[in-house]
Amino acid sequence: MLQRPKGTRDFLPEEMEERRAVEGRLRDHARSWGYREIATPAFEHLELFTVKSGEGIVSEVYAFEDKKGLSMALRPEITAPVLRMYVNEGRSLPKPLRWFYFADCFRYEDPQKGRYRQFWQFGTELIGADSPEASAEVILLAGDLLRATGVEFTLQVGHLAPMKKVLAPLAPEARARVMRFLDKRDFDGMERYLADAGGGAGGPGWQAILATLRELTAARTLPDLWRLVGDIPEKPAIEALDRILRQEGLSFSWNFAIARGLDYYTGMVFEGFAPNLGAENQILGGGEYRLARLFGGDDAPSAGFAIGFDRVMVSLRNVREIPVERWPVVMVITQGKGRELAFSAARAFRDASAGDAGTLLGDVDHRRRKQIMALVDLTEQNMNKKMSHAAKVADFAVIIGDREAAAGTVTLKDLHTGDQVPLSLEDAVTEVMKSGPR
Ligand code: HAM
Repeated sequence: MLQRPKGTRDFLPEEMEERRAVEGRLRDHARSWGYREIATPAFEHLELFTVKSGEGIVSEVYAFEDKKGLSMALRPEITAPVLRMYVNEGRSLPKPLRWFYFADCFRYEDPQKGRYRQFWQFGTELIGADSPEASAEVILLAGDLLRATGVEFTLQVGHLAPMKKVLAPLAPEARARVMRFLDKRDFDGMERYLADAGGGAGGPGWQAILATLRELTAARTLPDLWRLVGDIPEKPAIEALDRILRQEGLSFSWNFAIARGLDYYTGMVFEGFAPNLGAENQILGGGEYRLARLFGGDDAPSAGFAIGFDRVMVSLRNVREIPVERWPVVMVITQGKGRELAFSAARAFRDASAGDAGTLLGDVDHRRRKQIMALVDLTEQNMNKKMSHAAKVADFAVIIGDREAAAGTVTLKDLHTGDQVPLSLEDAVTEVMKSGPR
């Protein structure tokens, strides 16, 4: 038997329905903030991800050569593609741009619960705004979206400037390495690295740097931060951001050790966690960055985040069933003269739920109406078998045999109660529309 590739998953209808229900809430909330959906290709030129995404991501990229020998990659994340798209197509649009996406990403990681090789991100990017309000909007939107899913979460907000100031005496290479250790909260590894690098990368005074980094990691308030790093130029912006987030009642904590695994961040950074998950408990990551100029565009200041959709689903399922919209299911079962009426009878149920016109243009409101799923029985079995199959997959059977065909009626059978009544097709449709949740 062939198996699916390691780190990938199959989704049966029940799980897909749950995923779509949660995704739908994310979409609706993002749109209510004025963010509009975009899409980019599943693969890009490899270069897009090697320029500035950072060592961690680059080592995990699914890279391949196409038939012309060009280096391509499956997208490991979507911020770089979105900024590439902005430079290609979006530069003349009125800024700031508010975009969101929901798409799969690919990373060659060691799979475990909550860590996959194909996973989905719901992300937003705000392009062309640079103010404490822009940072605040992105963080508040992230909080709103996570709340909309029903997941229990905490938010940590940080800024790279204080850390950069502490690391300034180090050589650039050592700075990048230390940031990786910080991202993984690996102080022992960091200490070993700085000790080994000695006077080279570590340089004189690395012990003092390490001690300050430990204090920075522990700092949870702005006064603590200023005591450690003094008056940095970013102080007014950080204080303004703090004021807005508090005014909006957002529950968050400051964490100035957030280093992020990607190299493109420039200022505010933030992460979300689900306390009921194990090792892979980070459900969101984002921050301010500048990528447009790197891709040949203007220097548009940008900020955004991505929610790890699969982790949110794991976290939600740990606590409760995810409510999905259930449509009543009708199975049309015909015999003899009734057989030629099967598809038109099923259509009557579908049309009733889709609205009069039944087309997108004629009925833009159709999403708000109750919908019916109408199936036509396709088996060549006897009536008993047909009925027992219907009872497994449907809520109602609509039976049309010789008798019904002659009388111009149908028999509507409620498969949960066993009650059945002869009705006109129209009345049967009305009856099913009236039925409550099953
Ligand atoms: P990231 O932190 O690499 O950021 O990924 C965002 C989220 O995707 C993570 O917090 C995590 O929940 C989820 N995630 C990452 N890797 C996996 C995996 N292997 N399996 C399951 N879930 C995973 C970014 O990708 C940035 N592009 C976010 C961003 C948008 N920054 C600015 N704009």
